[in-house]
Amino acid sequence: MVQGQLLVHVWSFWMLRQAIFSHVTPIAALSPSSISSSQFTYRMAKNADLPGVAQLLRDTFESDDQNRDSTKAKEIEQGLQRRMTEMKSTPLPHAFLVATPSDLVGTKSPDGIAAFLELGTMPSPISIEKEWNGVNVFTRPELPYVANLVVSESTRRQKVGYTMVQLAIKIAKKWCDGSSDAFLFLSVDHDNQGALSFYERLGFERMDLSTSQKALPTISKVYLKKFLFR
Ligand SMILES: CC(C)(COP(=O)(O)OP(=O)(O)OC[C@H]1O[C@@H](n2cnc3c(N)ncnc32)[C@H](O)[C@@H]1OP(=O)(O)O)[C@@H](O)C(=O)NCCC(=O)NCCS
Repeated sequence: MVQGQLLVHVWSFWMLRQAIFSHVTPIAALSPSSISSSQFTYRMAKNADLPGVAQLLRDTFESDDQNRDSTKAKEIEQGLQRRMTEMKSTPLPHAFLVATPSDLVGTKSPDGIAAFLELGTMPSPISIEKEWNGVNVFTRPELPYVANLVVSESTRRQKVGYTMVQLAIKIAKKWCDGSSDAFLFLSVDHDNQGALSFYERLGFERMDLSTSQKALPTISKVYLKKFLFR
């Protein structure tokens, strides 16, 4: 599967999941957070950021030249716009984070978007054993999930990705409200060695999906998790 198709696939799966799990009890609402360093500002995305974010996603994930036109960027932007609107009406928490260069100089990224990260929730890809009324049961709780982390090529290896994930962890902790088993998870293409090294360096560990793979649509991926309160 080419990366572009994969992106659409992940998004479609996300939308499907939104429909299926819209009954889930709301997790604590997101409070806006922002961090500034001398070079970059990290904050929640605004509507005006979406064209730049779409271009960054297209340039990163669309390796096929045919898909690198403005129509594709518009399509991605519309998807982002739709999810941003839906965020306001769904009980499931969702956040779009961006990093912008503090002086808007030194990045070739369009509209000053140096990085983007999408944070939502999904059912855990593995069953978790819990004691309930004295009986051990297996559940797949709704947990925070990272998608579409991208740092513009000109700003890589400057700890921007690291800071985006730290911010996502901070937000995810608020959503999960101290639950000791809670973890943040994500999936990476098995051949995306750079991203795998990046996440493992940040303390994410590979999940054993040998008992759950049948339920997952994307078995060509490696799933990684990081406990939030351990
Ligand atoms: C993966 C990605 C987000 C990393 O962002 P970044 O801002 O460059 O990463 P950081 O500077 O925060 O890296 C922190 C550490 O992670 C590791 N790391 C980061 N990128 C790496 C790479 N390509 N190869 C190996 N290790 C890497 C390093 O140990 C690095 O520390 P160091 O620079 O001191 O050695 C970025 O390369 C990217 O956007 N890639 C394309 C999109 C993508 O694959 N996204 C992930 C989809 S799941």
